[in-house]
Amino acid sequence: MVQDFFLFDIGDDMTETSVLSTRSILLIISGGIAAYKSLELIRLFRKTGTYVRVILTKGGEQFVTPLSVSALSEHPVYTDLWSLKDESEMGHIRLSREADLIIVAPASANLIAKMANGITDDLASTTLLASNKPIMISPAMNPEMWAKPSTQRNLEILKQDGIHIIAPNVGDMACGETGTGRMPEATELFKAAEDFFLNNQPLAAKTAIVTSGPTYEPIDPVRFIGNRSSGKQGHAIAAELAKQGVNVTLVTGPVSIPAPHGVKTIAIETAEDMKLAVTNALPADIFVGAAAVADWRVETPSVQKMKKRVGQTAPELKFTENPDILATVSTHPNRPSLVIGFAAETEDVLNYARAKLVKKGCDWIVANQVGKDANPVFGADDNQVTLITRTTTENWPSASKTDVAKMLVNKIVEDLKDEQQQLSRSTAK
Ligand code: PMT
Repeated sequence: MVQDFFLFDIGDDMTETSVLSTRSILLIISGGIAAYKSLELIRLFRKTGTYVRVILTKGGEQFVTPLSVSALSEHPVYTDLWSLKDESEMGHIRLSREADLIIVAPASANLIAKMANGITDDLASTTLLASNKPIMISPAMNPEMWAKPSTQRNLEILKQDGIHIIAPNVGDMACGETGTGRMPEATELFKAAEDFFLNNQPLAAKTAIVTSGPTYEPIDPVRFIGNRSSGKQGHAIAAELAKQGVNVTLVTGPVSIPAPHGVKTIAIETAEDMKLAVTNALPADIFVGAAAVADWRVETPSVQKMKKRVGQTAPELKFTENPDILATVSTHPNRPSLVIGFAAETEDVLNYARAKLVKKGCDWIVANQVGKDANPVFGADDNQVTLITRTTTENWPSASKTDVAKMLVNKIVEDLKDEQQQLSRSTAK
């Protein structure tokens, strides 16, 4: 059954940023007195903007109510494996796939035993077995239960299975006994989740500037010259970089899609504004120019709306060249160590793209064939690109723009790991 309770004012502004701000957590609360700490953990996650879904086991429901969990997580709570409503809306497979990390807190001796033995008799245990995502557990139980050989055997199995185990604290227990088995405080669990991402994010501490969307070049106060870019490709790249821990500044032209989560977004209109925002954001480690920047602008836009008068011939617009942002970044004294441009071509795509790589002085070009009808790319959800470097050409299959962004970010991760590669690039310039 899905417990559908709706939003309450939880009293905190979501202002704090953390490596978790761009992350999605599935929290499983099993039966244990420490479950009350998980409510505070949800609150800490939400405070940084972390997306949290919660599964509450039958045991967990004895200690915290679905209403509290739902109010704090701002989502329905999942409790039942067999509810048709849950399965159609968000089944156990999807619940696990959508999370970047699954946290079980508290993890009872019973749930640990089920995990170690592949037993699936409720939503929590089934989701855990079906998961292909990292799992972190915070065992909490009476010290005698913790010390039992069976519990320790099960924990050893889980360790070998690659499950991250947060050791319980020593102290006074709710049952009146003293020993090992106390669940750490919510702040400690929050820190463990942050550390998990920091230690597993190859690009943590790197910075990137990404451009996205079209530019609008004014003709007069109401008219402009623009293009069909929706920002989907550039925004997806910014979002994927942020997920790898990169501190991203997204400079975007006017688009109707939302700014990606956890990214500093600067909205501009013209190519000149974009150049200023980009150069102000330097230095950075990575630059990705996915924006469709107008090559020309009207030299002197009219201050007043241009009027159509009877008998008058159509006005002629005089154009002047816009600054080339990609070329500017490539030759900037604070040049990022990896500069990536895009090439949008309607014909002879690879040759034009290779020529742009050389002319603009970037390290890689992502080439895509664009057109209005059969292969629109502009505004579409999918893209088919070729990644061209100074020495290689890789044709990638057609994929969603999110998957293209993931593939590109994987390449960036590989490249930035290879210090030799960067060294040879910088000495070649
Ligand atoms: O936004 P979407 O709807 O998702 O569409 C995605 C896209 C088609 C816009 C994207 O995949 C893409 O190809 N972006 C680059 C579009 C473009 O302007 O290409 P270009 O070949 O004209 O420019 C080559 C490179 O120089 C680009 O990196 C561009 O950002 C950059 N440039 C161009 C002109 C200029 N004055 N300054 C620049 O920095």
